[in-house]
Amino acid sequence: MSLKVEPILPNFGAVCSGLDLTQPLSADEVKQITDAMDKYGVTVWRNTGLTDEQHVEFSRNFGYLERVPKRPDGAKMRLPYRELFDASNLNLEGEITTDPAAVEYRKGDRLWHTDSAFLEKRTSYSILLAHITPPPEAGGETWFADARTAYEDLPQETKDLIEDKVGINSLWWSRKKAGADVAEEEILERPLARHPIVHTHAGSGRKSLFIAAHTMDIEGMEGPEGRQLIADLIAHTTQPQYTFKWSWQPGDMVIWDNLATMHRGGEYDYTAYKRDMRRTTVREGTEPHLMETGDDPYTALFAKSPKAVDINSARDAGR
Ligand code: OGA
Ligand code: MN
Repeated sequence: MSLKVEPILPNFGAVCSGLDLTQPLSADEVKQITDAMDKYGVTVWRNTGLTDEQHVEFSRNFGYLERVPKRPDGAKMRLPYRELFDASNLNLEGEITTDPAAVEYRKGDRLWHTDSAFLEKRTSYSILLAHITPPPEAGGETWFADARTAYEDLPQETKDLIEDKVGINSLWWSRKKAGADVAEEEILERPLARHPIVHTHAGSGRKSLFIAAHTMDIEGMEGPEGRQLIADLIAHTTQPQYTFKWSWQPGDMVIWDNLATMHRGGEYDYTAYKRDMRRTTVREGTEPHLMETGDDPYTALFAKSPKAVDINSARDAGR
């Protein structure tokens, strides 16, 4: 079968169809998808009909899948596979959660970000599948921004300034920005990840910004100066000409390349509507040794989580 691609913006975002994603894909079909991803950065697949198992199997075509933090033996999980990150507002019983830690944690997703920028090993694709969505007029869209075109449009002076700069990223920084009560000193004692804020996107050869709500500081710049630069670059990248929003229907799946985009969750009344979204998270790189790795960076990271943004209680509440 062959892929049909309908662009959303001229060079960014595309609605794709024509492949049956519930079935194993040929190498050629996988390449058609990665080619579309390299060109458009975000692809949207409507009415996929994927089960959890098929979602995970489909995602494995693109690399090693990160896993949610390990639960204590016997602890219940809402979702059946550790490869599924729970981006819902539901508890273990499938009801809207009222746990403050869970609500707090998800608030960070409403800031422009790239998934897992706070880990040393970056995430390439995030693959988010909608199971239950609020009614269309109630919001809950997801927004995407084109970090490659935004980079290309920067004045040369800014490109020169940021060329070799390294960002310092922390999960807790984005949670703090979203309102969590965590001190800066405490953040600096937690794991930090260093990533260049400009890099060459492997699949397209285009340069891209790599900044996020997780980017706290820029190495070698004074705190306020670095933070202003981060804020300016995020504001630049998220201007209307670089962005679109996707309004979800159950069954829709969106794949975004974190190494070429930013995204954020849109507003909706968290307490009034169920929104069940499940995500697989592909680690950057597809060399054979990366595909078989058994390390567990999320478990290691959240073992060090301060109470204010405790993903364990968030997860216990179903997040
Ligand atoms: C995510 C995310 C936003 C949303 O799953 O990584 O940021 O709209 N989701 O659910
Ligand atoms: Mn995200």
